[in-house]
Amino acid sequence: MNRNFKKNAGVTRRDFLKTSVAASLAATLPLRIPAAAAGSDTIRVGVIGCGGRGTGAAIDCLTAASGVVVAALGDLFPDRLESSLQKLRGAFADRILVTPETCFAGFDAFSKVLSVPGISLVILATPPHFRPAHLKAAVDAGMHVFMEKPVAVDPVGVRSVIATSARAAEKGLAIVAGTQRRHQSRYLELMRRIHDGAIGELVGGECYWNQGELWVKRQEPGMSDMEWQCRNWLYFTWLSGDHIVEQHVHNIDVINWAFNAMPVKVTGMGGRQVRTAPEFGNIFDHFAVEFEYPNGARVLSMCRQIPGCSDRIEERLAGSRGSAFGYGEIHGRKAWKFSGDEVNPYVQEHVDLVRSIRAGRPLNEGRRIAESTLCAIMGRMSAYTGRSIGWEWALNASKLDLTPAEYRFGGLAVEPAAVPGVTPLI
Ligand SMILES: NC(=O)c1ccc[n+]([C@@H]2O[C@H](COP(=O)([O-])OP(=O)(O)OC[C@H]3O[C@@H](n4cnc5c(N)ncnc54)[C@H](O)[C@@H]3O)[C@@H](O)[C@H]2O)c1
Repeated sequence: MNRNFKKNAGVTRRDFLKTSVAASLAATLPLRIPAAAAGSDTIRVGVIGCGGRGTGAAIDCLTAASGVVVAALGDLFPDRLESSLQKLRGAFADRILVTPETCFAGFDAFSKVLSVPGISLVILATPPHFRPAHLKAAVDAGMHVFMEKPVAVDPVGVRSVIATSARAAEKGLAIVAGTQRRHQSRYLELMRRIHDGAIGELVGGECYWNQGELWVKRQEPGMSDMEWQCRNWLYFTWLSGDHIVEQHVHNIDVINWAFNAMPVKVTGMGGRQVRTAPEFGNIFDHFAVEFEYPNGARVLSMCRQIPGCSDRIEERLAGSRGSAFGYGEIHGRKAWKFSGDEVNPYVQEHVDLVRSIRAGRPLNEGRRIAESTLCAIMGRMSAYTGRSIGWEWALNASKLDLTPAEYRFGGLAVEPAAVPGVTPLI
């Protein structure tokens, strides 16, 4: 752990320049931007949340298009900035124009990235809790956005993302979400066929994200509760939304795409049976949820993160004249199997984003990923409380807001895990 980190809780420029990341940057990176990269067509990218996906998305964006450079980085922790920078330089040394002046740590790093001159596109890849506020700040600052899914952890955050996405549309700003299946050939072709009636009317379906364990970070001596929770963010509902929101949103989004509708009612159950140790925070380790669509069709969803069990990550749609599988197959009278070439969808989503910006026809996926995020949140809320949840109520009336009292590196009690029938519906 970087012991300078606590100084960066309310980071000052001076404190940050003392860190190793700044020192290594100063030693090796040019401070001026090369003329070729400063041309009017160049898209200068800022990355907010420089972990695995933020760094990966930046590399995907650089892979997707020429004339794109990374010019600023922001993260809560200097050590994450440093490892991200090393990876970025390893992949695209000449297109990483980050300097010590454009590299920021702390809770306010996002606003500093947004104020770097010339940045026009930001990648938002922090834990999902921070997305609504970061998206709002980015759109207020006139930035195009690539944002990772999910985009909120509670209905209040979802409403914020919907409102900001509408404002982005008014301002002509692009928003692409990291639901890469929406940019993947096999899914695009499958959905075209479903929407053309290849399997008739949709009457039901299933979707799954059942897998084993993920990484976990234990609290080290001297590490504040807030630092630990932010580093170990997967396991705290206020940060990740729980794994039904953090991971399973991908599959739920595919189902919503097929129905071209949001469920009217969500009924779920789940629990915390195996991952009960303190390092696993307060999230559940399994959920089973039923989504009921406006035409009466019901879709069963399952997600599990328990080692030693069968894995399954998949979507299936049942229609009146056949069935469709997310991996690119239709069974029935209009049987079909995907056989084309496929660009890496993590790159394709940036190809589509950059192309839309340059063509002056910005994509805006903000509302639909906010809505799919809300579906996953409703599944969690239903499983946590034991109550069925209606779409209109969740979208318009729920007051659930998991934001902590303050963002400060100090004490932060872990909320007890939910108990169905006892945990209140808010
Ligand atoms: N589309 C996909 O397939 C896919 C895959 C993996 C992750 N994701 C999503 O990407 C996001 C990030 O996941 P990850 O795997 O990169 O996690 P990660 O822990 O590797 O990275 C998150 C980074 O955000 C930083 N951070 C935390 N709070 C911050 C704040 N307030 N301001 C600035 N930085 C902050 C952390 O220090 C960390 O470096 C999540 O929303 C996750 O669901 C999507």
